[in-house]
Amino acid sequence: MGKIIVVTGRGGTGKSTFATLAGRYLAAPMLLIDIDPDQSLAEMLGIDLEKEKVRTISDALYDITEERRHDGGNPIPLHNRMEYLLNRECLYEGNRFDLLVLGAKLTEGCYCVPDDLIKAIIPKLANHYPNVVIDSPAGLEHLNRKIVSDIDDLFVILDPSSKSLKHIARIKDITHQIGIRYGHLYLVGNYNFDRDTEEYLGTTGETYLGKIEYDADAQEYNLAGKSLLELPENSPAFSSIRGILSRVDGIRDS
Ligand SMILES: Nc1ncnc2c1ncn2[C@@H]1O[C@H](COP(=O)(O)OP(=O)(O)OP(=O)(O)O)[C@@H](O)[C@H]1O
Ligand SMILES: [Mg+2]
Repeated sequence: MGKIIVVTGRGGTGKSTFATLAGRYLAAPMLLIDIDPDQSLAEMLGIDLEKEKVRTISDALYDITEERRHDGGNPIPLHNRMEYLLNRECLYEGNRFDLLVLGAKLTEGCYCVPDDLIKAIIPKLANHYPNVVIDSPAGLEHLNRKIVSDIDDLFVILDPSSKSLKHIARIKDITHQIGIRYGHLYLVGNYNFDRDTEEYLGTTGETYLGKIEYDADAQEYNLAGKSLLELPENSPAFSSIRGILSRVDGIRDS
């Protein structure tokens, strides 16, 4: 079974940038999954889902639900039909990585059905890839949704605010309370981190892996909708993320 890596943190800390550049560093082939309704990961990876005719899970699910309403109950169970569509229509297949995007729900109500589907499917898909990297929406709500309950490496991208530091304790509480298991919790400082915050984190007893350097190009590429995979090898963001990940035992050769 492949390694399941989840990237989490508060809003705008740099989660998607980290997930994208981690995708560039880790062993291929890998599966990237975007569970943020904002779905910015594809753009950061330089993938135009519409052009590639790849659909989000929520879109495919919406169509199946509509179909079922009109045809008086398709005898094929929803999960089987959806699993078929996930492999045929929702999976972007690239050379180094494949991508799945959860998307935004289009119907009223909760995310229960798409969440349940993706929950059931992640462990199965993980069998086909050495690494599965999941980019999360801001905050902790996605943990409550328990989309992934068995995580190998949980990366928390932090800004230097006191709220961010409290966030670490809350992640530990929530995962414990709702039964999300993780092998390792890794803290990563974002590009706003200062030396004092880094020193403080070193005293928390958690594993602090280092800071992502400020990278004007990364910001500019993001604004221009240009793929972060085109950043130079020695760009500050990619170099620092490479350094951070190289401190995690066995992450590259799994
Ligand atoms: N190392 C960096 N240097 C400079 N700017 C960065 C860096 N990393 C991320 N940014 C910028 O910070 C902003 C937020 O980054 P990103 O979208 O990766 O964060 P996020 O945590 O995924 O946000 P959200 O919570 O909205 O999903 C973007 O404008 C991005 O270009
Ligand atoms: Mg993001």
